[in-house]
Amino acid sequence: METITTSAPGKLMLFGEHAVIYGHPCIVAAVDQRIRVSTRFNGKDEVVIQAPQMGLDRYHKKISDLGKQEVPKPVRFIEVLLKNFHGQFVLEQGVEVTTKSDFSASYGFGSSAAVTVALASGLSKLKNIELTKRDLFKLCYKTVLDVQGLGSGFDIAAAIFGGVVYFFGGGEVIEELNVSSLPLVVGYTGIKADTPTLVRQVAEFRRKNVELVDNIFKYIEDMVKRARIALETSNWKRIGMLMTKDQMLLSQLGISSEELERLIEAAIEGGAYGAKLSGAGGGDCMIAVVDESKRGSVEQAIQEAKGEVVKVGLGAEGVRLELKDY
Ligand code: MEV
Repeated sequence: METITTSAPGKLMLFGEHAVIYGHPCIVAAVDQRIRVSTRFNGKDEVVIQAPQMGLDRYHKKISDLGKQEVPKPVRFIEVLLKNFHGQFVLEQGVEVTTKSDFSASYGFGSSAAVTVALASGLSKLKNIELTKRDLFKLCYKTVLDVQGLGSGFDIAAAIFGGVVYFFGGGEVIEELNVSSLPLVVGYTGIKADTPTLVRQVAEFRRKNVELVDNIFKYIEDMVKRARIALETSNWKRIGMLMTKDQMLLSQLGISSEELERLIEAAIEGGAYGAKLSGAGGGDCMIAVVDESKRGSVEQAIQEAKGEVVKVGLGAEGVRLELKDY
C-alpha cells in the first residue's frame, strides 16, 4: 500500500509574541529542523499512531471514536486533526501514522503545529485531495483551537509557508517576507514552557491592567513594524536593538524568567547586537542577533550562563512531500 511521507518545519518567534493573540502582527521564522510524518491506509476501521519520541507505541482508536473518550496529551493534536479531517473529507478506512522529529519538543519550536500540518498535508495527498495553503491553514488552525482553546495560529502559518512570515488577525494576513538571512544564536534555558498557561497569565494580568497592557501591545506592534523593515534591509544592528527593547516590554508583561534574563544578558555581554525571549516566555529559548565575528563569543557566553546553544538555520521551506513509497 502507498506510504506518503511529508514534513513541516519548526519555528522561532522573532517579534510580536502574546500581542499577536490580541490582533497585533508578529514575525515568525521557520527553522531547518523538521517533523516527518508517514501515513498509509491500513484497510481497518481504526487509526494507529506510532510516535516513539512522544512515548507512543501503536496507540490505536476506531475512526468512529476519534476525539472521544480519553485522548492522551502526546496524541491530542494528531487525533483531533484525524477527527477534523474525517469530518471534512471522510476516512473510509484507517491510517497508520508514524512521526519522527529532528528536534526536542522541549525547545518550544512548535512541534505540535509542525506535526499537525505535516499530517494534514500527508492525509490530503493519500486521498488525492488538492488543498491550497489557505485550506490547510484553516483545517490545522481549527485543530489547534479545538485542542487548546487558544493560540494565534502563527506557528501553523510558519509550518505551512516556511521562510519568514508577517502574520496577524488569526491568519487574515500571512505575508511571506523577503529576508536573505539572519545571523541568530539560539539559547535554550533548559525549562519547558507551557504556552496555554502563559497566555492565560497574560490575559489575567491584562484583565487587571487593561490600559497598561494594551499600551505595551501597541509598543510591541511598533517594534514589529520597524523590525520588518530592518529584516528586509538586512540591518542586523537595528534588529538587535529592537529585540532588546522588545524584551523590556515582554518583561513588563511578566513572562520573562530569571533563566531567560541570565542568557539574554550573557549574550549581550558576549557581544550580541541584541537579544530577547522567543515564544511564550517562562522558559524555552532566547534569541540573539550577532555579527558573524561574534558568534563564538556569544555562544560561549550563553553556555557559561548555563544555557544550551541550539544550532538552527532560519527561513526553511514550509510543508513538503518527502517520499511516496509503494
Ligand atoms: C507562543 O510561541 C506565542 C504566543 O503568542 C502564543 C500564540 O501566538 O499562539 C504566546
